[in-house]
Amino acid sequence: MKILYVASEVTPFSKTGGLGDVAGALPAALAALGHDVKVVSPLYGSIRDERIVPTGQSLELRFPFGTERGPLQSLRVSPTLELLFLEHAGYYDREGLYGDRSGEFGDNHRRYAYLSLGALQACQRLDFTPDILHVNDWQTGLLPVAHKRGFLGTALGRAKSVLTIHNLAYQGHFGKQIMPELGLPWDLFNADQGLEFYDGVNFLKGAIQFSDALTTVSPTYAREIQSPEAGANLDGLLRRRQDALSGILNGIDVEEWNPETDGFLPARYGPEDLAGKAACRAELLRRFGLAPTDAPVFGIVSRLAWQKGVDLLLEVLPGALEQGIRFVAVGSGEGRYVDGLQALQARYPGQVGIFIGFDAGLSHLVEAGSDFFVMPSRYEPCGLNQMYSLRYGTIPLVRATGGLADTVSEGAEGNGVVFHDFQPDALRAAIDRARALYADAGRLRAFQRRGMAQDFSWDASARRYERLFTSLLSE
Ligand code: ADP
Ligand code: GLC
Repeated sequence: MKILYVASEVTPFSKTGGLGDVAGALPAALAALGHDVKVVSPLYGSIRDERIVPTGQSLELRFPFGTERGPLQSLRVSPTLELLFLEHAGYYDREGLYGDRSGEFGDNHRRYAYLSLGALQACQRLDFTPDILHVNDWQTGLLPVAHKRGFLGTALGRAKSVLTIHNLAYQGHFGKQIMPELGLPWDLFNADQGLEFYDGVNFLKGAIQFSDALTTVSPTYAREIQSPEAGANLDGLLRRRQDALSGILNGIDVEEWNPETDGFLPARYGPEDLAGKAACRAELLRRFGLAPTDAPVFGIVSRLAWQKGVDLLLEVLPGALEQGIRFVAVGSGEGRYVDGLQALQARYPGQVGIFIGFDAGLSHLVEAGSDFFVMPSRYEPCGLNQMYSLRYGTIPLVRATGGLADTVSEGAEGNGVVFHDFQPDALRAAIDRARALYADAGRLRAFQRRGMAQDFSWDASARRYERLFTSLLSE
């Protein structure tokens, strides 16, 4: 199959969260299965890589406000995998992907209309006729809309479109004045079959309406988003399209996240010998200025957003710290959580280590050096860190929601610690169970062993996407 994969971030070139990781790994896994894959993403100003070279082609997109042009750059990864970068100085050469300190960029509708329509034009420029158009999240939402409305008579028109929802809460809402601004016909401004959402425009809704198939990143989240509680006001539409919707659990990049080869770590280790993990743990404590200790170390690496339940953690941690645990956090995001974490560190300086910022190396060290990795999420479409943790012999402590519920279980054959209610008492009890597990070396080792033996490689997930694509094409 010829597959066009479009995403607003692609690891290792750009990343704010798990979307980047997935876009960096799934296309490669599909290419390894023999498919011809092209990935399209913006050339953000932060991307510097000598392997990225001009294709000699450029894009030219006409909007009512003017014509936008930019070169098309390329990185050929393998005979079947090419990354295409849309260069546009005005749109992408700035600090931050979606916004900066003062908030979301005011021209995101233009920036991501350019990505969505530009990806289709890139196919034409390169004479690439995909069978599958695979888009991700709201930033690429206009692509399936444009595809269904503007390309039917063309070679591209025969392609099937697939939307993957990584996070239903981010939808790309804009005022209705962007309809004429972007040249979107007013008949699309309609709530039943178009992009209208509470008198505004919703890019994700457009993609849900117009894509041939919908996926989300875990089976549990696929069910949850069809309910009013987790449906972010799109549950009615998702129920209407439930026959087109499925959940495919993300894989992880097992080369990047491999404790046996991880170059970010002071020592490496595998399932048979955890001596290297102890060295990582010692280095983690040292890096965060904490003294060596036998007390259990709880870690997080997270976007500091409402979704992640940092507030619940901040409520419960003082009690657990009084009982002696250590806590380390790497995160960036909302000020209220940054303040909360810093206040906690000020109160328990010998027990808490905080790094505010984005640091890939440190995130690997937290995965390897912690005893427990905590994810008390309000909701979690998939979550990748719990899978990284399992691979690193670090016990995930998670709330049973979305992909966390699909990957972590407690009990006799368990691999982690799981709580259900988003309540302080439930998290407190889970931390107590984690401490009891830590005190029982044999049981702890068995949990670690089971986690480290699990296979979360992309291969199985890529085959599920392959099956979905094949079934769409045979329709
Ligand atoms: P989400 O996409 O909702 O943020 P995921 O668990 O899917 O959650 O993926 C988050 C990814 O981003 C992981 O690879 C995680 O290690 C990484 N990450 C998040 N915050 C940071 C940070 N401050 N520094 C380094 N990596 C981070
Ligand atoms: C989103 C979700 C996260 C998921 C990631 C990759 O950012 O919040 O749960 O793992 O996308 O699909």
